[in-house]
Amino acid sequence: MPIVKVEAPEQANTYDIHIGHGLLKKAAGLLERCRGHRAMIVTDENVAPLYLDAMKAQLEAAGAQASAFVLPAGETTKCMAQLERIYDALIDAHITRQDFVVALGGGVVGDIAGYAACTYLRGVRFIQAPTTLLAQVDSSVGGKVAVNHPRGKNLLGAFYQPELVMIDCDTLKTLDARQVGAGLGEVIKYGCILDRKLFELLNRCGSRVRVMEALAPELDEIIARCCAIKARYVHEDPHDHGVRMQLNFGHTLAHALENTMGYGVLLHGEAVCIGMVAAAGWGEALGVTPAGTGARIERVLRAYGLPTERDERLTRAHLAAVMALDKKAEGDGVRCVLLTKIGACTGTVIRGAQLEVLL
Ligand code: GLY
Repeated sequence: MPIVKVEAPEQANTYDIHIGHGLLKKAAGLLERCRGHRAMIVTDENVAPLYLDAMKAQLEAAGAQASAFVLPAGETTKCMAQLERIYDALIDAHITRQDFVVALGGGVVGDIAGYAACTYLRGVRFIQAPTTLLAQVDSSVGGKVAVNHPRGKNLLGAFYQPELVMIDCDTLKTLDARQVGAGLGEVIKYGCILDRKLFELLNRCGSRVRVMEALAPELDEIIARCCAIKARYVHEDPHDHGVRMQLNFGHTLAHALENTMGYGVLLHGEAVCIGMVAAAGWGEALGVTPAGTGARIERVLRAYGLPTERDERLTRAHLAAVMALDKKAEGDGVRCVLLTKIGACTGTVIRGAQLEVLL
């Protein structure tokens, strides 16, 4: 079972990411730290029928007193109103600072449960058990927790590292094809920014069906590879002031699309796919990215049935205005990640007026 270590030095927090098969059915050993404590599992309506009982049983086997709070599924859940409901549940369950919040689900659950864990009592202990590919390769690692604001994605958030990440690759067997694709979008992103071999591997696999079949024996290795890349970024730059921003490749437009189209219309990973093709085009126009790179990325994404173009009805002016409110805004511009080739990237600030033209 691969174990990836995350060292986030500024937060004096080192934790392990355990990756394996059937982990949710045999996690009691990993959950030993919960012995004698309460643990509130936060999950959603899709995940609860599949994995909540197993998680509860493992926590109880570890000697914890487990309870659960089930959220509606989907990105619209990542809002202040649902956050308040989680706080109410934590108060009702008498969760104290020694107790745990356990996020069982995809990126939405991890983000909102993590933000609740970070802010409730100024911080209670936190475990991530991601059940989607996207959450396993990206959002459960590195401590970014947040809820959305009606005017911008993830505008209300914090950095709050979990104590443990438990990735059960078997949960991918129950994931629908659209969710798998969205996760692959983030895997392709790692290939684009840092790991050309990973990009080529996904390029060779050629289709979503084949990747799940052909890569099934290697999928945990791919997840571990993505987690290891992420762990390196988090170690170097836990608070996203420098090199970690490279992970935002494709995210500037992605967040604006998610906000403008309505949260949940596009899955986050799908929006990132459109954003990556756009960012490659901006890089080509600015002479930073070799010509044809956008087309290469587009081909790979298309092979997996992933979206590559935004809805043309969304105006440039509107998208540029939403981007100006993004976390990555800097002065009168927005910090964007551009590829210098497949497998390498650089950050640059693109001014608002220029961005509108590039869009
Ligand atoms: N998802 C990008 C990051 O965690 O930095």
